Amino acid sequence: MNSKAAAQPVPSQQEIDRAARCLAEGGLAAFPTETVYGLGADAENPQAVARIYAAKGRPANHPVIVHIAPEGDVDYWAAQVPDQARKLMQAFWPGPLTLILKRAPHIPDTVSAGQDSVGLRCPSHPVAQDLLRAFAALKPGGQGGVAAPSANKFGQVSPTLAEHVRGEFPDEVAQGMPVLDGGAAEVGIESTILDLSRLDQGVGAVLLRPGHISAVQIAAVLGQPVHSPDAAAPRASGTLKAHYAPHTPLELIDGARQARALRGEGLPDGRCVLVSYDDLPALPADLSARLQLRIVPADPAHYAQALYATLRELDHGGYARLLVQAPPRTPDWDAVNDRIGRAAAAFALDTSGF
Ligand code: TXA
Ligand code: MG
Repeated sequence: MNSKAAAQPVPSQQEIDRAARCLAEGGLAAFPTETVYGLGADAENPQAVARIYAAKGRPANHPVIVHIAPEGDVDYWAAQVPDQARKLMQAFWPGPLTLILKRAPHIPDTVSAGQDSVGLRCPSHPVAQDLLRAFAALKPGGQGGVAAPSANKFGQVSPTLAEHVRGEFPDEVAQGMPVLDGGAAEVGIESTILDLSRLDQGVGAVLLRPGHISAVQIAAVLGQPVHSPDAAAPRASGTLKAHYAPHTPLELIDGARQARALRGEGLPDGRCVLVSYDDLPALPADLSARLQLRIVPADPAHYAQALYATLRELDHGGYARLLVQAPPRTPDWDAVNDRIGRAAAAFALDTSGF
């Protein structure tokens, strides 16, 4: 996954150290991960974590993920680390997998939003790891965790570039919040979240949020199926129906509606853009005044990588609507379908007239 790492910007050790000091002093620092950028605070400092909620405009009943360095001690953060969790860490850490475990007693309530669990993740991005190591080195016991949600305002599209973060938090940046630039996020969508906090109640592994690491890969390591959430599963804000939305109304369209749109039929008033993974020819001039084309990658990993940056860019295009070709309903597209399905649900457009 790191084939492009050499081309990515690399923050200096001075910048990393300044960000680590900000965290140690109770401030916020934004940093790249392989999934999306995070807005970090010292996970053991409740006032610092409260600053994340204030900056994001996020309700206090949404827990945040604690990020740890590869050398971090999971047993310091979790009250119980079941064998299944250790197997998955061995297989997928560092990487885009968050494990929900029973939390250790010293984890502040603000991190877990009052739940008895904690979300733990060890990111693979080298800049994230450098920051986590530098921060842990400043903590008296050498264990440091950075609580970090995606570095966007609540309900908005996650940032995959440092400039996205600076655009979301101009006030914090003006007040000196470090934003470490690690280039474009490689995965592009948020980590897979797997709940293992209720194994002692006979509930197996539960997939709370699909991601780059798939349920199939997880089940193969566990030798057991992965379940869908039931009513008693822990809450996750990324699992709200309307989440991850751009400002421009977004409509998911099937092949038939795309074919009609390409004939200029059924288009809403105003300029629209069609986001398609088909290899479409350029549109005739009379149609392209009303409908623009954006061709996106046809494989799920590259599509995911481009998704949020594309949505952010198109959001500034002054379009009346984003018409997004629905991806295939196959398991390899699960994570992408989850995100764009929620984005479309935010608008619940009535398209019966089209
Ligand atoms: O890829 C990612 O996971 C990114 C990067 C920055 O690591 N982070 C991220 O954080 O997406 P956030 O806060 O935007 O989404 C984390 C999700 C939320 O839906 C939250 O409710 C859930 O994880 N979560 C965190 N701790 C949890 C817990 N103890 N129990 C259940 N859900 C939890
Ligand atoms: Mg988020």
